Parts: sequence; structure tokens; C-alpha cells
Amino acid sequence: MENRMRRLLFFIPLALLLTGCEDVQSTFNAQGPAAHRLAHLSWAMTITFLVAIVVMWALIGWAATTRRGSLDEHEPIDAGGGQQWITFGGLIVPLVSLCIIFVFGLKLLASFPLHDPMNQVAIAPDIQIIGHQWWWEVHYLNSEPDLNFTTANEIHIPANRPVTIALESADVIHSFWVPALHGKVDMIPGHENYIRIEASHPGNFVGQCAEFCGAQHAHMRILVVAQSPDEYNAWEKQQLKPAADPSTPDAQAGEQIFESGSCSMCHTIRGTLAGGHVAPDLTHIASRQLIAANSFPNNTAYLEAWITHAQSLKPGAKMPDLTQFSGVQLRQLIAYLQQLK
Ligand code: CUA
Repeated sequence: MENRMRRLLFFIPLALLLTGCEDVQSTFNAQGPAAHRLAHLSWAMTITFLVAIVVMWALIGWAATTRRGSLDEHEPIDAGGGQQWITFGGLIVPLVSLCIIFVFGLKLLASFPLHDPMNQVAIAPDIQIIGHQWWWEVHYLNSEPDLNFTTANEIHIPANRPVTIALESADVIHSFWVPALHGKVDMIPGHENYIRIEASHPGNFVGQCAEFCGAQHAHMRILVVAQSPDEYNAWEKQQLKPAADPSTPDAQAGEQIFESGSCSMCHTIRGTLAGGHVAPDLTHIASRQLIAANSFPNNTAYLEAWITHAQSLKPGAKMPDLTQFSGVQLRQLIAYLQQLK
């Protein structure tokens, strides 16, 4: 018990310190206009409550250390003494501070009009994201149909430009949360919600599904990559292309294995026979930094482990353990996936 307490006392200040760091998911680490406004409210709340706690402990300390005197000295005893303290400290102060924060919270909520159900008709989202147990299906939308494309898990946006995202779910309730860019918005089956994110500079912004959605909720991570306009346009152009044709014999054999085996039942690789729609689109899998909903690095070792032992890496995920491949076949399959840039 004592050990646990000591560990807690060590980790709480450490966690507070870390919230100032770049890669940490924290409301205080705002990197976009919406997140900045939320951070201001969070700071206001934190400071208000810190002041309240300091004053409270100061009063407790004062009461505990002040000489009280004997009962005789207090004769006649005033039975109703201290009522004002209770009215002021226990009623007026909390009521006023909570009301002020509530009004500021409502004002902030109203300044993100995408949450207003009356306005939804007018919204033309740039991206649609559908939550799945436990990954993100990402559709880039354009008024020109041949500029639409689908990807998964890694969301690229142009920096310094607001991007409107429609959020939905294919199964249970998930929640889209990239703390550096905005607050969290729930993804509800059969109901579209909207969020407008903007990154103030290029960079990687990590997030996390913020609503418990089953066994692998913690492995439902988000990666938003904000890029300069040129880099973003190049990425978009590449994503619009169908899959690269395999050029080496290994990769060609790998494509055959992918198309004829169980992979193509669930995954799509545009431009090939693989057209499954229940798992992430892998047309440009090699261009992504991470695999398994941003849970593991996208390298040979993890790809091999994911194909053969997904149930050990992410128990309960829809990806089965595919142990039927020989070593050579596995190598060919990975050679194929790694050239899908
Ligand atoms: Cu999806 Cu938690």
C-alpha cells in the first residue's frame, strides 16, 4: 500500500510535467485555433480550482493551529456561530465560480457551430471518418467523384486550413479526439457528427478513441499528419493513384498470394482483385507510418507479426492469425505490401 502511494506521489508530478511536452496528448498542448480556445478554458478552470484548494487548505491550517481557548472563555456559547462561513465558502463561492465556468463553457460550445443539429444541412465535409472496432476508415470527399479516395488510420490534412470532418460509426460508439487540435466528438452509429480541425503548423498530432468501445479501445489510436500545401497535394495525388504494380518477382508472387488468399476477402487494394470492405484499405499501406490503427511501427518485423499473430498483438481484433503461409510466402507477401507506397 505504502509502495503504491509512493509511486502515485512520483507519477502525479511527472504526468503534470509531461503535459507540457510535444507528443503528449494533453488539452494544454494546443496546436490549433479550436484547441487554443479549449486550452484557455482548461487553464481558467485549473487556476480557479487551485486557488479554491489553496484558500481551503490555508483556512484548515489556520483553524487547526489557532488557539481555541477553553469552553469557559467562550461562555455564553453561540450555537449558530460560523453560519456565515458555511453560506459564503460552501454555497456562494462554489455557486458563483461554477456558474461563471458554465457560461464560458456554453459560449465556447456555441462558437463551434458544427455541433448545432439545425445547421447540419449546410455542411459539406472534406473528410468522412467511420469508426470501427478498432480502426478508422477515412474517406476523402470531393465534389468531383474521381477525386474521392479511401484510406485508413493515418489522416493527412493541409496545415493552416480548417478541415471539416464528418464522424460516424459502423458498430458501437467511438469518440474522435486529437487533443492538440480540438475537443472530443462522439461517433454514433446512424448519426453523423461534425468537427472542424485546423493545425497551426505542419507536424504529427496523435489522438485516441476517447469512448470505451471494447477490448482494444486503447489500440484505437489516431495519427493526424498536417503538411505544407505542396506536401499535402503530393500526398493526395499519390493516394488517388491505384496500387503500384509489383516489379520484383517476390512482390509479384506476393500480389498473387494476397489476391487468391484470405486477405482479399476483407481488404481492398485498388487496381487489383482485392476488394474486401470490412478491413482497412491497403492501397498505399507502405506510405503509412504505423499499422494496426497506429499501434505498431510499419516495419518488416511488425508486419510479419501482425499477419501471423494479430491475436497476440491485438486480442479480439477482426484480423485473424494467418498461420497458413510458409516462410517464403510470408516474405513475398510483405515484399508486395512494402512497395504499395
Ligand atoms: Cu473506439 Cu474506443
